[in-house]
Amino acid sequence: MDFKNYIRVIPDFPQPGISFKDITTLLSDGEKYREAINELKKLVADLKIDLIAGPEARGFVVGAPLAYALGVGFVPIRKSGKLPYETIEVGYDLEYGKDTLAMHSDAIKPGQNVLIADDLLATGGTISTSVNLVKQLGGNIVGTAFLIELSELNGREKLDGIDVFSLMTY
Ligand code: PRP
Repeated sequence: MDFKNYIRVIPDFPQPGISFKDITTLLSDGEKYREAINELKKLVADLKIDLIAGPEARGFVVGAPLAYALGVGFVPIRKSGKLPYETIEVGYDLEYGKDTLAMHSDAIKPGQNVLIADDLLATGGTISTSVNLVKQLGGNIVGTAFLIELSELNGREKLDGIDVFSLMTY
């Protein structure tokens, strides 16, 4: 598959030294976007998934269509202050900066099998925080799925052996 041809690489964004992987050029091509989600669906086909959780904002454009394709529910993991009901929250360090992620306290029923999906695995801060939140709610993490993995940042190491499925690796 030639998915990388659809990713626009922007040097020194948002900071000098960061090579930003812009997925908007993939998303705007309807056929390729669908192909990418279908390929991710194949990668996770052997998992028993009850629910997909995806972190704001780019996790939504991967997690929601994947959930739709699999016929399972989607729950958002959002930045602090966005969710209207009772939440649990966890702070974390980003590749560039700090943030807090939140989930509704009733988003997951204890024991549900959850796949966490996002566009990109970089340092692993976002995904490990998402794992932490889902576990706090009693979810059973069956894996993580990404369009892109930046292997040199070793995000996988923060995942304690949780399976990582990624479409592209840089
Ligand atoms: C980006 C990206 C991933 C995360 C990856 O999101 O979409 O969620 O960073 O980096 P990490 O593995 O080092 O945590 P960002 O926090 O920029 O939010 P956005 O999707 O709302 O732009």
